[in-house]
Order: sequence, then C-alpha cells, then structure tokens
Amino acid sequence: MTNNIPLKIAGVGYSLPKTVVTNDDLTKLYDTSDEWIYSRTGIKERRVVSGEENAVDLGFDAAQKAIEKAGINPNEIDLIIAASSAPPELYPAIACHIQSKLGIEAHIPAFDITAACSGLLYGMQIGRAFISSGIYKNILIVATDNNSRLLDWSDRGTSILFGDGAGAMVLTPSDDGIDDIIAIDIKSNGSIGEYISLPLPGQNCPLVEPCSTKKFQIYMNGKEVYKFVVKILPGYIVDMIEQAGMKAEDIDYLIPHQANQRIIDAVQDRLGYSDDKVISNIKYYGNTSAASVPIALAEGVEKGKIKLGSTAILCGFGAGMTWGAAIVRLREGIC
Ligand code: UT7
Repeated sequence: MTNNIPLKIAGVGYSLPKTVVTNDDLTKLYDTSDEWIYSRTGIKERRVVSGEENAVDLGFDAAQKAIEKAGINPNEIDLIIAASSAPPELYPAIACHIQSKLGIEAHIPAFDITAACSGLLYGMQIGRAFISSGIYKNILIVATDNNSRLLDWSDRGTSILFGDGAGAMVLTPSDDGIDDIIAIDIKSNGSIGEYISLPLPGQNCPLVEPCSTKKFQIYMNGKEVYKFVVKILPGYIVDMIEQAGMKAEDIDYLIPHQANQRIIDAVQDRLGYSDDKVISNIKYYGNTSAASVPIALAEGVEKGKIKLGSTAILCGFGAGMTWGAAIVRLREGIC
C-alpha cells in the first residue's frame, strides 16, 4: 500500500434554507428580546427548513457545488462521509441518501459520523487517512444539520442559538505534491457528554416493564459548554500552531465554529487577529452545528472575505464533547 499521499482540498460548497427567523420573531414564542440574544450570542437571525425540506436536501445542494468546483464527476467519488448532529433519520445514513441523489450507481462506501459541531474536522481527519494510505482517492464530506426540527421551541436558553444549513468539501490526492492539510487534530471528552445531548425516544419491551421515554429534543447546558470551550479552545489552537512550527501571524484566516460570537472573540483575542482575519457569519445563520465551519469557509470565499491562495485555521467543538482544528491551505478555484 502506498503511504503519505498528500491531499488537496479540491472544492467547497454550502447551502442554506430560505426561511429566516429573526430574534424579534422569537419573542412570539417566549419572553426574550433581540437585545438579550444579540448581546449574549452575536445572533440576529437564523435560517430554518420548512415543509419537507431536510438536511439531506441541503447537504445534496452543498455537495453538488463542492463537486462542481472540484472539477470531478460524481461517479468519480470513492467515499462519502456525512457529518450531522440533527439528521432527519438515524438510518439510512445521510451519506447513502446523498449517494443516491447524486446518481452514483457504483457501490461506494457511504456512512455518517456523529461528532456534532466538530463534524467537518472529524470528516477531514478520516478522509485524510484514507487518501494518505491510498485506499480511496476522491472523498466527499457533507456536513449538514436541521437543528430546527429537534429543538425544544419552548426552551429559550437553547433554541435561540441554532439554525439549519449544510456545507461540503471534496478531498482528492494532490497533483503537485503539496498537502493542503498542514496540521489537523481531533479530540473528545466523553465524561462531560451530558452538556449537550439528543437522546433517542424509546422504551423497554412492555413485557419487561412499563417505562417512560424522554422527548426527542436537543438538551444543552449552555453555561457549562461556554465555560468549557472558553477554557480549552484558545490554548488548544495556539498549541496546534506552535506544534506545526508556525506563528499565529503566518496564518491568514481564522474560520471558527459559529457557536457564540463571544467564543469567537476569545479565540481572536488570544491569536491577536484583526477583524478582517476572522470569519464570522453567526449574526445571520446562528449555530448550524456540523455545517457551520464549511458554510463560513465557502461563504467567506464567495463573499470575498477570504482571498484564496491563503492559509486558514479551522476549528470546531460541540456535543461529545468533541473538538478539533486544522491548519489548511486554500487554493485558488475551490469555491
Ligand atoms: O455548538 C454547540 C456549542 N454550544 C455553545 O457553544 C453554547 C455556549 N453557551 C452559550 O452560548 C450561552 O450559554 C447561551 C447564549 C446559550 C446562554 O447564555 P447564558 O449567559 O449562559 O445564559 P443562562 O442560561 O445562564 O441564563 C442567564 C439568565 C437566566 O435568568 P436568571 O435565572 O438569571 O433569572 C435565564 O433564565 O438569562 C435567562 N435567559 C434568557 N433571558 C432572555 C436564558 N435564555 C434567555 C433568553 N432571553 N433567550
């Protein structure tokens, strides 16, 4: 088996539902205000799915854009990895649905991973291992979430934060020997998993015992998540940059998970970055979980906030608790 094949980030894309829910709209659901939400989170509005639209549709749209930018035919894809924390169903996997929607008839592998808002980073690390070892060549990663269907819309501490959306990335072997992943790392700490959870409904066999079931909805202890992330994330990123033999100023952009503007600010402050180096769209989309980093990346390029031929640090964190970061090269033409 060939080893250490460098990889290229060949294409990225994103997709958002059209329906906008503003902070003012939320005041119809519970006692809150635009001022409270914006000052605590940086969020003004979020997008939500409607009708039958779901994470598969959003993911398919984002995937098509990333594949087009990568300049490959869907039938050249060897593996699909989908990352989601709020999938429309547990199985079939989102990745299998997307294989079908893309019209890929070959029996390629397709599977989902559950790493919540770190999903893109986890997908990239898995994809990198497969490309580097020569097992698969063209890998599609789709990070997509329809949080709005699984939120408790009476829980004002959690439902203010989330929105729906999808992002996608195509990884291929690099044709010029340059590896676009300069450094990557993923982590988890299962002992604090209760900070964010989505228990499946279910009950024991009635022949065994009667029992109640929890509601199928997202639970979050926002305060504990906030404290944990602000404590570990800035130092984690600084260490990664150092271990890569780089300095913060060597990297052009910070593309962080869009969970809370105050968390983004904490990382920005630690890196000493000016505002133009930090990509933030949380104001318009809220926290789109797994999709948030790839949306920030693809939309940042599309809107000219990110110039290509540059380097960026991507970072995510979320349920698990999981977290991860990558220092990447962003080539011309990826979006
Ligand atoms: O990708 C997943 C990662 N998740 C995160 O990164 C979440 C990180 N955490 C956060 O962003 C924040 O914890 C939130 C924005 C979710 C909440 O902010 P907080 O400052 O931690 O609020 P809290 O839950 O501690 O609540 C403070 C007060 C409470 O009132 P009392 O008990 O002090 O009287 C809440 O009842 O604010 C109240 N409150 C609200 N008031 C108006 C909670 N939610 C709201 C609301 N509007 N929407």
